[in-house]
Amino acid sequence: MLAHEVDWGGWRDAARGLALSDVSPDEVVWSVRTSSDLFADADTEDVRTPRPGGAFTVPRALVGLAETVIQAREPERFALLYRLIWRAHRGEKHLLEQTTDPELHRANRMAQAVRRDTHKMRAFVRFREVVENGATRYVAWFEPSHFIVEANAAFFVRRFATMTWSILTPYRSAHWNGVETSFGPGANPAEVPDDDCLAEYWRTYFSSIFNPARLKISAMTSEMPRKYWKNLPEAAAIPELIRAARGRVDAMVETPVISAPKPTRRFEQAAPRPSNSPLARAKAEAAECRRCHLWEPATQTVFGEGPPDASIMMIGEQAGDHEDLAGRPFVGPAGQLLDRAMAEAGIDRTQVYVTNAVKHFKFEPRGKRRIHARPDTGEIAACRFWLDIERAEVAPKVTLLLGATAARAVLGRAVTISRERSRPIPLAGSTAFVTVHPAYLLRLPDEAARAREYAAFVADLRVAALLAAA
Ligand code: URA
Repeated sequence: MLAHEVDWGGWRDAARGLALSDVSPDEVVWSVRTSSDLFADADTEDVRTPRPGGAFTVPRALVGLAETVIQAREPERFALLYRLIWRAHRGEKHLLEQTTDPELHRANRMAQAVRRDTHKMRAFVRFREVVENGATRYVAWFEPSHFIVEANAAFFVRRFATMTWSILTPYRSAHWNGVETSFGPGANPAEVPDDDCLAEYWRTYFSSIFNPARLKISAMTSEMPRKYWKNLPEAAAIPELIRAARGRVDAMVETPVISAPKPTRRFEQAAPRPSNSPLARAKAEAAECRRCHLWEPATQTVFGEGPPDASIMMIGEQAGDHEDLAGRPFVGPAGQLLDRAMAEAGIDRTQVYVTNAVKHFKFEPRGKRRIHARPDTGEIAACRFWLDIERAEVAPKVTLLLGATAARAVLGRAVTISRERSRPIPLAGSTAFVTVHPAYLLRLPDEAARAREYAAFVADLRVAALLAAA
């Protein structure tokens, strides 16, 4: 008797004990405890499940397969897995290579279905913002086909470590309070708000990346099956986007290609702020910062700049060579590229708060040159003190994270840009949006790749502007 549907520890201990006691699969009936069983036969498990000692070895890959298959919804899975374990334990050494074996084939099919469901959960969980007693919590409703919530909780913890969230499903709920994960019973969709500003963000984002010239309805519905649509805010935009696609393509064909506007003057000084504003005070204090060793070889602290009520905050990695000398963020080659991309995306730099995760230039001297060196996690953590003040004071609607260092500083975890770029990420009090660092574009050796990546970068900035205006 297993404690619940994905009682991996219970199943594994029982299977081991049964196999070591030579209990054949035909003699075992597997079941999952229901709430009424709690009061019925309390000692069933101890009486029927032997716990002998002894060596028990089965291939590691089979254990991995079992760990996945146990999440499948099919009630027969426990018995099927025990039959496979039993056979391996009795000496079928190459069982896993016999892919046409009916039992192994069935288990592989179940594992595949679990993996597909996992992929969909990771892609289609959409959090809504709920404010309770002044505290923000993010709640998502998802209907998995299999019992995948427990095994996926760690993924969502890593990805959304800095927020407090709950994922509700019909059979189980998972909660993260910023420190630990807990699981509760299944829930119902009424506990999740219907619409919120994040939903609006998703619709804006999806509409902006939707390319009518590339519309392939069958590919779209296979990647984003209709069964998930009711929980995807962006799905509400799909019928209208499909309907209007033809007309938009015709209009694209007829519109002459216009060149991008010339970048406006590179950087204008942000409007002077009263010197006793919290940001101005933080800037003055940061000038004397000794929170890590980077201050020593650097010329000066490069604090953020821009309006204290900016709706967009852009965060880069660290001050570079030019910034170190000028005392202002993003004024060197990467900054010029950023200015150009912003102008093309219709963003006025003077309306954006621009800063860096690390406020001192980290470099290695090479002759007369100072070669950029990546800040490490300790330096990023030390400088978060200042970044947190800037974020709290500016409280931007959209926080654009330029590259992996900025993403790590704000999201508190390692981020693979290619995996997480271009989609809204809920962030307490703001929406984060990850994209590449402009210096990455400068480093691309091949012209075609540079043009392609630059266009994608401008598209990201455009979406950020839309989100900020939504
Ligand atoms: N790169 C950054 O990340 N920030 C700057 O300010 C300049 C270059």
